Amino acid sequence: MTSLAEMAVEVLNTADGRAKTALGRAHAAAWFAARQAGTPIPVGRAEPPLRPARPDRPELLPPREVPRRRPGSPQGRIALLHALAHIELNAVDLHWDIVARFTEAGMPAGFFDDWVKAADEEAKHFNLICDCLEAMGSHYGALPAHAGMWRAAEDTVDDLSGRLAVVPMVLEARGLDVTPGMIEIFRKAGETEAVAALEVIYAEEVGHVAYGSKWFNWLCGRSGTDPKDEFHRLVRTYFHGALKPPFNEEKRAEAGLPPDFYWPLAEADAPQEEQA
Ligand SMILES: [Fe+2]
Ligand SMILES: [Fe+2]
Repeated sequence: MTSLAEMAVEVLNTADGRAKTALGRAHAAAWFAARQAGTPIPVGRAEPPLRPARPDRPELLPPREVPRRRPGSPQGRIALLHALAHIELNAVDLHWDIVARFTEAGMPAGFFDDWVKAADEEAKHFNLICDCLEAMGSHYGALPAHAGMWRAAEDTVDDLSGRLAVVPMVLEARGLDVTPGMIEIFRKAGETEAVAALEVIYAEEVGHVAYGSKWFNWLCGRSGTDPKDEFHRLVRTYFHGALKPPFNEEKRAEAGLPPDFYWPLAEADAPQEEQA
């Protein structure tokens, strides 16, 4: 029987976005069906690639060279959705990478349930945003995209607590801060399909941050470290730059992220650089 770790590696090694997400969704359904039937698929172990396979397009550019997005025009809104599709595809890989890479960390089965579910939701998000782009006459790959997005994964390749601190608890939490503003842009433009997609994403991303916070706290409890101090240490080690207010205090709280975790890492006068 193919193990969960091997399934995750298959997804990581699939280049095309629609094919990657279809395979991932099928694997997620198989994992949950087997769990429900009381015949779980073994987690097993596998060798995830350092970088996941990616399609030839979009062209990946250094962050500074990606053209700026002005959401006031249809072209600007397409660029915004294109950037988001790229984030969602990275998120699919980030979640399958957590599943495949940390099989030796002694985590309970519920850890794998959470990340398989998160990966499945990211696949849905990628497809929803691709559908919107296609309805607007564009597609994922039509514009250049951000090259730096896998860096957090590479930096935390052998540190599960570091991975949880930086990916769900910093990067995905940042998504909670910025998504309401994006929803407003598309609502004002009357783009109802994009509004509906963004609302699904906004609701489900709270869960991903919550999974990060839950397992981060669990690991701290197992090692007897203070979660807040450990979070500050790991973000300062692995995350390049300060966190950017304003924060979505309400949704962060819902996801189990208290203010004393993120406020001490925020710098009011930090360089204005894209983080997510
Ligand atoms: Fe997402
Ligand atoms: Fe997510």
